[in-house]
Amino acid sequence: MTAGRPQPFDEAERTAVYRVIAERRDMRHFAGGAVDAAVLRRLLEAANMAPSVGLMVPWRFVRVVSPETRAAVAELVDAEREVTAGALDERGAEFLRLKVEGVRDCAELIVVSITGDRDRHVFGRRTMPHMDLASVACAIQNLWLAARAEDLGMGWVSLFEPAELASLLDLPDGDEPVAVLCLGPVERFYDRPMLVEQRWAEPRPLDELVSER
Ligand SMILES: Cc1cc2nc3c(=O)[nH]c(=O)nc-3n(C[C@H](O)[C@H](O)[C@H](O)COP(=O)(O)O)c2cc1C
Repeated sequence: MTAGRPQPFDEAERTAVYRVIAERRDMRHFAGGAVDAAVLRRLLEAANMAPSVGLMVPWRFVRVVSPETRAAVAELVDAEREVTAGALDERGAEFLRLKVEGVRDCAELIVVSITGDRDRHVFGRRTMPHMDLASVACAIQNLWLAARAEDLGMGWVSLFEPAELASLLDLPDGDEPVAVLCLGPVERFYDRPMLVEQRWAEPRPLDELVSER
């Protein structure tokens, strides 16, 4: 236990936390440029401070720095986008008109995977093995919020065949990629989720989602 009571957050700090949560957006339009190395380090540190089940720390980050590898990732995403459109039946054509990733245009491309040693970790996962994925999502959300606070956009792309991406990146045995993160400067943040602006989906009001027993 650490001694002493930490300072409570003041009004301005509290407002900033809620503002960054409300103004985080999934970004698919990027302005090129670069992410400063010190900023990228802060973002990854923020991700690595996330909670994880049994403190298993099941995340790994791969920075895609080779243009050839980035192009190959983009091709995997393009291929899955087509397959997804086919699986959507009557909404397939509409789906193909949506912009669903900024893989080629973002300043930084980061692949996040769940580590292959996950089945050694039983604490909190015996009945719910997917708590490893939940933990990785916490790390990604930390990164997403920190990026917004640094005025950088981020998009989570999950349109890919994980085994193919793992093989492309030569990930350790059993590692499973769950996110291709597009990160970097943007011209402006969308006012609302892009899928709302494009009339693809609607957010659900909180009152529909909270109940009492
Ligand atoms: C696990 C996860 C996977 C996602 N995968 C994609 C994706 O492949 N392509 C995409 O355009 N958006 C993807 N998104 C972004 C969601 O579409 C977006 O979060 C949602 O529409 C709400 O918009 P907002 O994040 O701007 O609030 C993903 C989000 C999450 C949490």
